[in-house]
Amino acid sequence: VEFAVTQVNFVLLGFGNVGRAFARLLLAKRGELRQRYGLDWRVVGIATGRHGAALDPEGIDLEAALALAEAGQSLASLSPVQVPATNLGLIRASQADVLFETTPVNYQTGQPAVDHLRAALEAGMHAISANKGPVVHAYRELSDLARARGRCFYFESAVMDGAPVFSLWREALPGARLLSFRGILNSTTNLILTRMEEGQSFKDAVAYAQSIGVAETDPSGDILGWDAAVKVAALATVLMDRPLKPDQVERQGIEGLTAAVVAAARAGGRRWKLVCQAERTPEGVRASVRPEEVEVGDPLFGVMGTSSAVTFHADVLSGLTLVEENPGPQTTAYGLLADLLNAVRG
Ligand SMILES: NC(=O)c1ccc[n+]([C@@H]2O[C@H](COP(=O)([O-])OP(=O)(O)OC[C@H]3O[C@@H](n4cnc5c(N)ncnc54)[C@H](OP(=O)(O)O)[C@@H]3O)[C@@H](O)[C@H]2O)c1
Repeated sequence: VEFAVTQVNFVLLGFGNVGRAFARLLLAKRGELRQRYGLDWRVVGIATGRHGAALDPEGIDLEAALALAEAGQSLASLSPVQVPATNLGLIRASQADVLFETTPVNYQTGQPAVDHLRAALEAGMHAISANKGPVVHAYRELSDLARARGRCFYFESAVMDGAPVFSLWREALPGARLLSFRGILNSTTNLILTRMEEGQSFKDAVAYAQSIGVAETDPSGDILGWDAAVKVAALATVLMDRPLKPDQVERQGIEGLTAAVVAAARAGGRRWKLVCQAERTPEGVRASVRPEEVEVGDPLFGVMGTSSAVTFHADVLSGLTLVEENPGPQTTAYGLLADLLNAVRG
């Protein structure tokens, strides 16, 4: 069967857990993308923080890049041409069609990711990010720029990994108005609470979450509720069209919950969860992150371990719940792929 194949060139900014999982997903789905979507891809640029960068207009050997990155080595040897000294230079020199941005989140300013995404859009690329920072700090600016250039700024993986949260509202719920949402959006704290219910102390539960790579070496951003607050701000900003900064989200973490308090709730048939919520008010949006005891019938009651969930209430549809079970970097990678396919098919 003859069909038209479109060649698309990618530049990857960040080649860590998510960037590499995305590379593996691209390799695994190469044939399927060609057959189902007529899409043939090439990675022409990769940049990291401390592991060098590579640029090759003919396409970088992605298997070799994965091997080097996994061995902790620099990617520089994969570059037949001189790599520009800065990421902005690399983005422009790549002449790619799509930028995938998977660098660490900067909660305060969203930088330097905002500058990188802007440069990609200005150069006529689609800009796709797994990073919450640019969503809370530059959603309006980058979306307006994308629209003006006839390109997309998409960020499905920034909240709930690969689950279709942003595209659900963009593509599948036309004409619906989001009134409120309530969910569990931080995997680390939900895992800690699950372990505490199983009898572990707070400290041991944190150590366990770190040992399996879910919690960071400094887990305070999760435990104090900052990560959850940034996600609430991102959802409110995009889905309610009300720019909300993380420090405008009323925030309480799980640091005060002891094993005894968690056990007492269980004895009473309830569970502690770090509940994220936001609702429209006449003045704007009221949003919070705080531990709550939830009852058996609550959609959040059965969300355990690293799973997450959100219930949306819209003017035309009440109580639509999305649950994502035990996501990982490969789920986040799928969010990037979904963004790509949504962007290129227009
Ligand atoms: N892990 C998940 O499942 C998940 C889920 C949803 C969203 N996210 C978001 O996805 C992003 C990536 O997460 P991750 O787990 O992949 O992090 P990671 O493993 O720490 O990887 C980050 C990557 O970015 C590179 N980097 C750092 N600063 C850079 C810069 N200025 N320019 C270019 N590259 C730079 C790092 O390079 P070096 O290592 O060489 O410094 C590394 O390759 C974060 O924003 C995170 O919040 C992650």
